[in-house]
Amino acid sequence: MKSIIEPFKIKVVEPIRMTTREQREEALQRAGMNVFMIPAAEILIDLLTDSGTGAMSAEQWAGMMRGDESYAGASSFFRFYDRLKGITGFEHILPTHQGRASERILFEVMGGPGKVVPNNNHFDTTRANVEHSGARAVDLVIDEGHKVKSRHPFKGNMDVAKLEALFKEEGEDRIPLVMVTVTNNSGGGQPVSLENLRAVRRVCDTYRTPLFLDACRFAENAYFIKKRELGYADKPVESIVREMFDLADGATISAKKDGMVNIGGVLLLRDSELNQQARNLLILTEGFPTYGGLAGRDLEAMAQGFEEVLREDYLHYRLRSVEYLGERLLAGGVQIVEPPGGHAIYVDALAFCPHIRPEHFPGQALVCALYRHAGIRAVEIGRLMFGGEGHEPPDMELVRLAMPRRVYTQSHLDYVVEAILEVYAMRDTLKPMEIVEAPSQLRHFTAKLRELDP
Ligand code: F0G
Repeated sequence: MKSIIEPFKIKVVEPIRMTTREQREEALQRAGMNVFMIPAAEILIDLLTDSGTGAMSAEQWAGMMRGDESYAGASSFFRFYDRLKGITGFEHILPTHQGRASERILFEVMGGPGKVVPNNNHFDTTRANVEHSGARAVDLVIDEGHKVKSRHPFKGNMDVAKLEALFKEEGEDRIPLVMVTVTNNSGGGQPVSLENLRAVRRVCDTYRTPLFLDACRFAENAYFIKKRELGYADKPVESIVREMFDLADGATISAKKDGMVNIGGVLLLRDSELNQQARNLLILTEGFPTYGGLAGRDLEAMAQGFEEVLREDYLHYRLRSVEYLGERLLAGGVQIVEPPGGHAIYVDALAFCPHIRPEHFPGQALVCALYRHAGIRAVEIGRLMFGGEGHEPPDMELVRLAMPRRVYTQSHLDYVVEAILEVYAMRDTLKPMEIVEAPSQLRHFTAKLRELDP
């Protein structure tokens, strides 16, 4: 059989309802043309993010009932700890309420003024946490990672020569750690190869600098390795995952992605001294180390989710459904970041609306058009997100269609394709935009914009 089906059946359903065009127009105006400000009840298909938006399994819900809510030493913590230790091999495992809490603790301990933190591409909260500590965030993805049409199999790889050059320029004392994001969310959800991780590790060893993973989508990255990297086709995903973590001295994880839960995060550390410092900060702002800002039931759901995400029928369906969306858009003439990413399709907004200059937010114009036309919510990953005060604008203007895990079926995706192709047919009517008001950091969440008459 060639058909790839959703490897689950549906037990609980949640209705979604279409709004009228007038209602959506009113919602856009009310929200200052920012879809983050539109209530979810007014969205038909929500592709804003794959983070915390997945459906949990029957076993995860069963775990929620089993949750031990003891303040210290809850049995749910030990189930979580044993699962994470089994998967990653790490001894020091701190639960946090989500990825950015792990980042905040990590960079409070290791960042600071005068420091420089390289990454393939920092995700926005990672960059913000690095900068909040006073350090500078530097992106060192390979050149292919900037080329929309490059079909490089591991476009998320870090440029090892640039990393070496950075060490020579800054000196190892100023670089507290090297971070690699798997998969590379801000660069199109593109994977990083084990060969690249090993090369980065060698540079880190030369300069006695720890290597950290931003491992939110570690399982999707591992499945790409299985499919694309020489010598891994017959390796179980678990052992590829283990090879990835074995190369690292630590990791931040948002469990809202490959942890398959609605809330939760993890901070993994090899070094006991560092763990002590991080644990003290955890107690200060998250909670006691056996719950770290979560309920016992959340730890149960994570323990189960981290197991389910490694099932290969799931990963196969997951990456294939994203690829299906990408293939259909490409066939309809819509330029996306090629090849399709693991958790999302990234539409090239500059190619979609060549009549809108980058400084007039072509990505946001497309995001608004998708909502207006079809009730679909996507997110701009371009200069609205990254071009705030004191930042270089990014070299790509993208719109991300992120796929929640186990939530939408193929017919939902067919609807999304049809809607995008209809908007593409009337792309000339999309209007340039300008910011009316915005905060200086993480501005895309709350900025207000308006459309300009061309
Ligand atoms: N790192 C990466 C690569 C991410 O994609 C995210 C979140 C985080 C860190 C932070 O994790 O949200 O749990 O605090 N990405 C979401 C997204 C929000 O939509 O891509 P968090």
